[in-house]
Amino acid sequence: MKYRRMPIEEESPEQFGYDRIRYNLTESSVRDRSLADLGIELRDLLLFYGDHVGNESFRDLVTEAAGGAEGGVSRDEVLVTAGAAQALFIIATSLLDKGDHLVVVRPNYATNIETPRAIEADISFLDLTFEDGFRIDPEKLMALVTPRTRYVSVTVPHNPTGVMMDEADLRSLVGRVESAGCRLLVDETYREMTFGELLPVAATLSERAISVSSLSKTYGIPGIRTGWLVCRDKELMATFLAAKEQIGICGSVVDEEIAARAFAQREAWLAELRPFIARRFSVVRDWIAGEEFMEWVEPGGGVVCFPRIKPEAPVDVDEFYRVLGDVHGTYVGPGHWFEQDRRHMRIGYAWPSAEELEGGLAAISGSVRAALTL
Ligand SMILES: Cc1ncc(COP(=O)(O)O)c(C=O)c1O
Repeated sequence: MKYRRMPIEEESPEQFGYDRIRYNLTESSVRDRSLADLGIELRDLLLFYGDHVGNESFRDLVTEAAGGAEGGVSRDEVLVTAGAAQALFIIATSLLDKGDHLVVVRPNYATNIETPRAIEADISFLDLTFEDGFRIDPEKLMALVTPRTRYVSVTVPHNPTGVMMDEADLRSLVGRVESAGCRLLVDETYREMTFGELLPVAATLSERAISVSSLSKTYGIPGIRTGWLVCRDKELMATFLAAKEQIGICGSVVDEEIAARAFAQREAWLAELRPFIARRFSVVRDWIAGEEFMEWVEPGGGVVCFPRIKPEAPVDVDEFYRVLGDVHGTYVGPGHWFEQDRRHMRIGYAWPSAEELEGGLAAISGSVRAALTL
């Protein structure tokens, strides 16, 4: 493995220093919750080695959320991991050796690209573009598949754009991957924050599909580092478990107990969350509509968007980021976090307070104007 730090982690707000940021628009989650918010008390919890696969009650809840037996998955087809990030690591290192081929959508959450790179896998990218609405076209994706392809990797709702795939496209992709004899990884970390109909959990559709998600984004508890993968291929699940055992034997029983109790409140949380996200989304939509120098592809889910400074706007991009940070104390996810032009920026709109969001958006508008070269 050839590890190198990813800009998105190296420059993340927690590494940069929250106290140096006034308007934090980098987060791709809702606001973090405290243990007190959750009403959880753990004094009597036995600090033993937990079930290597993961806390049973938690896996039952994940199974239920994926549609239960009706949806076609059982508790044994869920592996609890230290965040979606660890699930992605386990999948990449289990399926790929140096030189193995995979197909990945770009831009993407960095780990989906960086771990295959660290393995020195042979990566073909499907480069999504603003002009195509960042749409993941199953046909274009499959045109990159060869008999050597180990898996195809997509993120839906997409990070950093929030663009969705419809169910017909997902089913078509699953069918094509099955015929090609490779596998499909669907990073579903933002699934429950879809604005319209939820897509099925991809792993329920095929033994060849692997779903990944976590409690970090929708549920606002990234600090317990709890996520999961779902896969109906028993042999592959045994390999994934072996990988997890070699990384850390089992997960933290504290984290997993909190996860189980938090996830039991899921429906109530989601009922509050969905209108909240819709309100925040409309703030950004109104801002973009009135902002002459910016444009976006309107997201269909998640809590991030990926607008850009219009190509024709004469803006010194480095100066834009300098003013944004130094003068306005505003932090966004710059394009280079996603291997994109820095005219693009990821804006997270559900983590900041309403005032912070409005302050941050006004700061972007002000910084674009301050960086005009005409
Ligand atoms: C698409 C996607 N997948 C996975 C992750 C990893 O999150 P975690 O490990 O906290 O679950 C992130 C975090 O930003 C993400 O955006």
